Amino acid sequence: MDNLYLIAAIGQNKELGKDNNLLWHIPEDLRFFKETTLNKNIIMGVNTYYSLPKRLPNRKHIVITHQNRYLEDTLIFHNIADLLNYCETSREEFYVIGGAKIYAQLIEYVSKMYLTKIADSKEADAYFPDFNENDFLKEVIYSDEYEDIQYKRLIYTRKK
Ligand SMILES: NC(=O)c1ccc[n+]([C@@H]2O[C@H](COP(=O)([O-])OP(=O)(O)OC[C@H]3O[C@@H](n4cnc5c(N)ncnc54)[C@H](OP(=O)(O)O)[C@@H]3O)[C@@H](O)[C@H]2O)c1
Repeated sequence: MDNLYLIAAIGQNKELGKDNNLLWHIPEDLRFFKETTLNKNIIMGVNTYYSLPKRLPNRKHIVITHQNRYLEDTLIFHNIADLLNYCETSREEFYVIGGAKIYAQLIEYVSKMYLTKIADSKEADAYFPDFNENDFLKEVIYSDEYEDIQYKRLIYTRKK
């Protein structure tokens, strides 16, 4: 879908998080996340929603859950089909921001991914899904290191 993107930071073994927390906190990468998603719609699973220290300002929060929950100022979907239908009929841009369960179900629909690949490995309980690298064109847009850990950021654009 042309207006559906994904953004994630992953370890060497595709680690995403543990105990509903992030594994790395790289300031430049967190700034990139903010700049990229600002004034956009952000789509997340309910675990990721509760993992946020606070709501992210100036972004429309969209949360996926099977439960009947009320979350202030948040659009809630109870299944992927309804969410996709909503995105498809909108002219706005949507960023899938996690976590593991939501990436796994939406990766096949995104047209672009911003993946920060961190050259480190940590114990995790949430992992980015496997996907076919050949489905995408790849471009490294940034590389750096933070506290002796190297990382690089790639844009994956789905081949037409
Ligand atoms: N490194 C990164 O870039 C990054 C980004 C985001 C998150 N994370 C990490 O990822 C971890 C969280 O991932 P997670 O997989 O545990 O949780 P998640 O994907 O954030 O949320 C999963 C929950 O979403 C709901 N859900 C999933 N699929 C659904 C569907 N088809 N229909 C309706 N509801 C659905 C369910 O909630 P109900 O039980 O309420 O139905 C499910 O338990 C945390 O450690 C977090 O820090 C890392």
